[in-house]
Amino acid sequence: MSPTVGLYGFTGTVGSAILPALVKVHQEGKIKLVILHRESTDLSKLPKDAKLETRVVDLSDAGKEKNKAAVKDLNVVVSTVGAPGLKSQIYIVEALAGSSALKTFIPSDYGANWTEEELKAPGLAGIGVKEEVVKKAKELGVPLTEVRTGLFGLFFFAYKAVGTDVKGNTVQKFRNSLKNPLRLTTLPYLGYAIATLASDESGYSKIANQVLQVYDVTVPGQEIVDTLTKLNGNAPEITEYSEQQYQEDLKGPGAVVAALKAKWGDGAWGPSGSLIEGWKPKSFEELAREAL
Ligand SMILES: NC(=O)c1ccc[n+]([C@@H]2O[C@H](COP(=O)([O-])OP(=O)(O)OC[C@H]3O[C@@H](n4cnc5c(N)ncnc54)[C@H](OP(=O)(O)O)[C@@H]3O)[C@@H](O)[C@H]2O)c1
Repeated sequence: MSPTVGLYGFTGTVGSAILPALVKVHQEGKIKLVILHRESTDLSKLPKDAKLETRVVDLSDAGKEKNKAAVKDLNVVVSTVGAPGLKSQIYIVEALAGSSALKTFIPSDYGANWTEEELKAPGLAGIGVKEEVVKKAKELGVPLTEVRTGLFGLFFFAYKAVGTDVKGNTVQKFRNSLKNPLRLTTLPYLGYAIATLASDESGYSKIANQVLQVYDVTVPGQEIVDTLTKLNGNAPEITEYSEQQYQEDLKGPGAVVAALKAKWGDGAWGPSGSLIEGWKPKSFEELAREAL
């Protein structure tokens, strides 16, 4: 029998990228996909032809019994909840505690490898919530797989999060970012990676209680400059992100992006990882062309 995999948060940015990849392996018979959702979640975005089972969860004190029943046969649970709901994952962890079916829980992380020092920045306090969920899972003996990523390609190209604008032909540099690689994770790769891991029963013991590094593109700043020069026919304007602005940004809502710029500039991404088998990553140039 194929493993049963639960997905919570399918309507979000990450969840909607992971959903089609999980639906694909569900339709191939490699997993049985179960959608976990809030009472209020809009289910109209689920593909009708996939005939997915849906189960309501209630991530509050009132939902404890309902949640336990909803997850009791799940072998893998993937959460992609967004920031306001991160803490409520503790209810998922509590529901999973003692489950004899569970092989691993993948909490909503999909972020960088932060050090304790970095997490002291006031603006990064929200990330501490992810650590609380992990701590609770460890306390309750719930096996979990933490998925660390680079900056999402969507944020780099479409949202210009770290100051590169492919069309506008500008690149922002910070510290040694021209020399050091930026780590990017494209959302299709993240979906592929999660679906591949979730459908490989024989690999569950290798991913439980592990931290995985999931990214498919690394590109030094100079290569970004050279690519933009090639695509636009003239060299991009290079602006400098100042130390002063960095310190200022660390205090507020721009802290995650500021801290990612520092990781890039300092070459401090933490442990590296290898591509999940079968994925053919696009080159930076291909991705940049798509953004033109
Ligand atoms: N590496 C990167 O560049 C990067 C970028 C962005 C995000 N991330 C990380 O990716 C993860 C997912 O983020 P996202 O941007 O995909 O999130 P998002 O788009 O905000 O996703 C929201 C999802 O969470 C669900 N949800 C459940 N409880 C909620 C609550 N109490 N409040 C709000 N939403 C709730 C929503 O369900 P309903 O449909 O029921 O509302 C929805 O499915 C986060 O851990 C985030 O830190 C990483």
